Amino acid sequence: MSNKILVTGATGTIGKAVVKALLQQNKSFVAAVRNAATASEKLGNEVDLVTFDFDDPTTFEAATNGVDKVFLLGPPLVLTLDKLLTPFIDFLNTKGIKRVVYVGALGMEKLTDLPFHVNIIQKLKDESFDYTILKPSFFAQNFKNYEWENITQRNITFTPAGNGKVGFVDVNDIALVAIKVLTEDGHSGKEYDITGPETLSYTDAASILSAVTNKKIFYPNPTPEEYTDALKNAGAPHFVAPYMVSVYALIANNNVNVISPVVEELTGKKPTSLREVLQADFS
Ligand SMILES: NC(=O)c1ccc[n+]([C@@H]2O[C@H](COP(=O)([O-])OP(=O)(O)OC[C@H]3O[C@@H](n4cnc5c(N)ncnc54)[C@H](OP(=O)(O)O)[C@@H]3O)[C@@H](O)[C@H]2O)c1
Repeated sequence: MSNKILVTGATGTIGKAVVKALLQQNKSFVAAVRNAATASEKLGNEVDLVTFDFDDPTTFEAATNGVDKVFLLGPPLVLTLDKLLTPFIDFLNTKGIKRVVYVGALGMEKLTDLPFHVNIIQKLKDESFDYTILKPSFFAQNFKNYEWENITQRNITFTPAGNGKVGFVDVNDIALVAIKVLTEDGHSGKEYDITGPETLSYTDAASILSAVTNKKIFYPNPTPEEYTDALKNAGAPHFVAPYMVSVYALIANNNVNVISPVVEELTGKKPTSLREVLQADFS
């Protein structure tokens, strides 16, 4: 066993944090990337890269050379993510690489109109993979990644999340949990909810944003219809609004109003708060 980990989604929000933590802990890994030139700008020159695309099975063999564990992460906003990932999961099965740590999402069982995570996890179970499922809550980094202009230019955070609460989680904490389960025994067949230290509403988040930016940030609490109209007027592809409305309904319906002890139990550190992440991202 080489103990070499293949990290998919390596240039993304979680993936970059996983790569950073693997480097810091001196673990054996290779980052699977679609474009090596842009990836090395994002990840640095010391990271071992291999060309990989879920959409291109000719990349699978070289990407998995000497690999015996896979950190499997699918991109967001892909309605048929299960179809995108199936050829690679089938490939892993055929090649006998059975250890897979998959990134799902907290509350995904309630997303009956977006069943891709549930379908992928069922496939891993049905095909006897040696799996561990990570179920992170909404990322604290979503504010910077998806709402930068709303917050810095329009003084709003604009999501159809109602008055529900959620335990925003720092992606660096997700990465630390991922590395634990990838490099330690005892996590096979387990599913871990991963949250921050407290549950907060978007009104609470707007107050924190106001404090860290030193200006009043509002949460207008848009209805799904108002949110859909706003995205349409902004020219977003038509599938984005229904996807986001479904996802944010998890918060509005208090389906993800939970705090999990997993970060501290597995890593020994207390989870980072939303305030700490926003402080770093916006001040
Ligand atoms: N945001 C949240 O609050 C949240 C909460 C819970 C769970 N999740 C889950 O987390 C996942 C998203 O993670 P993230 O935010 O880290 O994603 P992200 O930042 O959008 O990054 C997506 C990654 O996937 C790669 N990618 C895209 N298409 C690919 C393809 N065809 N083949 C191979 N790689 C491809 C991208 O590479 P390039 O650099 O080449 O584009 C990038 O590295 C989703 O499954 C989502 O459901 C998100």
